[in-house]
Amino acid sequence: PQRYTTVVLGAGGVGKSALVMRYGKNVFLDQYDPTIEEEYEVTVELEGKRSHLEIIDTAGVEQFTGINESYIQRGLGFVLVFSLTQEATLKELDHIRQQIYRIKGGEDVPIVVVGTKMDLTGEREVSSQAMQELAVRWNLPFYETSAKRGWHVSEVFNDLLSRMRKR
Ligand code: GTP
Ligand code: MG
Repeated sequence: PQRYTTVVLGAGGVGKSALVMRYGKNVFLDQYDPTIEEEYEVTVELEGKRSHLEIIDTAGVEQFTGINESYIQRGLGFVLVFSLTQEATLKELDHIRQQIYRIKGGEDVPIVVVGTKMDLTGEREVSSQAMQELAVRWNLPFYETSAKRGWHVSEVFNDLLSRMRKR
């Protein structure tokens, strides 16, 4: 089966590792343990075909560093993660998105945008409508997820895989 390198990017504490662990191992990471870098290999069966996803879970990006630049060079597809409970973390993705386009030399790059912590309804700062407007403006698919509840997590990676297969 073919291998597809997927890089997970976004601000610190938004739930990147919890998302990846829910997807790869079907468990919820309750503790917050900041990531340095983790890599996972997940075998996926999608539309009758098997693939290997190599998922790189990165450290929260506060600034754009050379480390992130090398992740972007390695990745074929990208999961851009923000927290639905912190609007500022969505704003940060605009910069990351532009860096991906710059480094990849164009906008024909498989990317999905993921809002996490959908279960924390009382703390929510980003509305579905705001997400839909940005999805149109950025021309990217957006998902609302909860790693805690397991909501819409596999859709994210399945959508990205089918976009990577078309590349
Ligand atoms: P860095 O590795 O530092 O960049 O953080 P991260 O983006 O990997 O965040 P992480 O997955 O470690 O999650 C941070 C905290 O948010 C942890 O305490 C998680 O349990 C919590 N969390 C993550 N996803 C969810 C979710 O869907 N719902 C709720 N309620 N909490 C979540
Ligand atoms: Mg992490």
